[in-house]
Amino acid sequence: MSNKTFYITTPIYYPSGKFHIGTAYTTVLADTIKKYKKLRGYDSRLLTGLDEHGQKIEEVAKKQGKSPQEYVDEMADYAKKMWKTMQIEYDDFIRTTEERHTKIVEEIFDRLMNQGDIYQGEYQGWYCTPCETFFTETQLVDGKCPDCGRDVHKMKEEAYFFNMKKYTDRLIKFYQENPHFIEPESRRNELFNNFIKPGLEDLCVTRTSFNWGVKVRKDPKHVVYVWLDALVNYITALGYLSDNDELFKKYWPANLQIVGKDIIRFHGIYWPIFLMALDLPIPEKIYAHGFIMMKDGKMSKSKGNVIYPEMLVNRYGLDATRYFLLREFAFGQDAVFSPEGFVERFNFDLCNDLGNLLNRTIGMINKYFGGVVPKYDGCVNEYDKKLEEETIEYIKKYQEYMDNYHISNALEEVWKAISITNKYIDETMPWVLAKEEKTDELRSVMYHLMENLRKFAIMLKPAIENTSKEIFRQLGIEDQTLKSYDSIYKYQVFDQDIKVIEKGEPLFTRLDTETEIEYIKNEMKKTGI
Ligand code: MSP
Repeated sequence: MSNKTFYITTPIYYPSGKFHIGTAYTTVLADTIKKYKKLRGYDSRLLTGLDEHGQKIEEVAKKQGKSPQEYVDEMADYAKKMWKTMQIEYDDFIRTTEERHTKIVEEIFDRLMNQGDIYQGEYQGWYCTPCETFFTETQLVDGKCPDCGRDVHKMKEEAYFFNMKKYTDRLIKFYQENPHFIEPESRRNELFNNFIKPGLEDLCVTRTSFNWGVKVRKDPKHVVYVWLDALVNYITALGYLSDNDELFKKYWPANLQIVGKDIIRFHGIYWPIFLMALDLPIPEKIYAHGFIMMKDGKMSKSKGNVIYPEMLVNRYGLDATRYFLLREFAFGQDAVFSPEGFVERFNFDLCNDLGNLLNRTIGMINKYFGGVVPKYDGCVNEYDKKLEEETIEYIKKYQEYMDNYHISNALEEVWKAISITNKYIDETMPWVLAKEEKTDELRSVMYHLMENLRKFAIMLKPAIENTSKEIFRQLGIEDQTLKSYDSIYKYQVFDQDIKVIEKGEPLFTRLDTETEIEYIKNEMKKTGI
């Protein structure tokens, strides 16, 4: 195994209900980056899991007549099943109710208290139960929760506080020395200028109003605030402070932590401060992605506009679903899900551009060369040369975008390369070359088509692995070295005969636009309550 390590995390999800495509989006994004790093030779590790404590979970379980533990156990099974369906290759799945986590949360709390970072006081404020967050009077918007717009209620309780003020200057310095810690830059600037620079308030880190959480060892009527409990999952999962901290030594600090924009405040402010207090290194990068919105705003059951990933996977397949999520939502920005957009991407990008290219190529290699791919003989004409040069440029751009986690842009480069390859067929007109018996040119065209498809299969592997595998299968490529990223920039790669399959099978079957738009809309309506 490589000694270059890459540790990537997703947020741990609240299992308060079924996961919609927003939740799936974060995870598919992280999974694709993990797989890309693996393809590039890294020993890469992906962590995901569940954030199982807190008042909201306690309430949902009660409504269903279950104990919180029973409820979260069921949800953990559900989540693992969902990630299996989405082919998420996680290396660890942490649950905050596991002993390996709770024991260390207790330990961390003790330490922070002993070293004076956590102190006892009294809390007065407005609490939003669904968001599990306290707000000051001035933070409320029209008397409601500034995050979700729901009702808040006044709470006063004896509580423990974390001394954030003590760390503000260090955090400011850290931000100045690490300008790319948070991406995109707009989010970084927002956090830095609006929250950090004006000065931080101490954070209330315990609750007494409910029980479902990690108890403070020295004062067990208090439970640890869910965010302190949840954030440290990224290190407890590696065995921090446990009997075996090998993984922690190997993988910490994380290279990349992916979060949604709604939780960047917790990850960009409290998290690095907790790490400073524990004298631990801070992750290299935190990436805040945007939200998947619907035409009428946020996804919600009350609006009946929820898209569940299973629905898309069952009807259109996993790769179409993953491709859509990764391609449609650009780096860090919000974007609107539309059934029209989904069907269009399916028909144009997957069926027409990629699927047809493979199909035509297999058909022609069978027709003109009995299925055996001709050997490379350099560039025979100017079209070959142009194709090679332009494709290499697109691969370079793909790589640069992938290295910077701009997956949507990276896929766009692959599709640009697919598009010039389709154009290359129109320009070289193999059917005319065959008729005129220009065999050398025809051989070269077939070789180049095959070779470009092989490159696309390599580039698509992290995002849509089944499609990548199917392209290799249809092309008759079995050799691992021909599937490796190391071979991607070269054109002359085959020293053995390659035989493509006799009859190409469509990668994707074209959808009837009207029917499918109607189908998705109906499925959305069914989600309403
Ligand atoms: N439990 C916390 C995270 C703790 S991490 C130490 C949490 N959980 S969550 O289930 O509410 O959200 C999980 C992730 O899904 C978050 O990154 C959130 O931003 C993301 N999304 C929730 N709705 C979303 C969309 N509509 N679109 C994109 N991502 C969305 O927050």
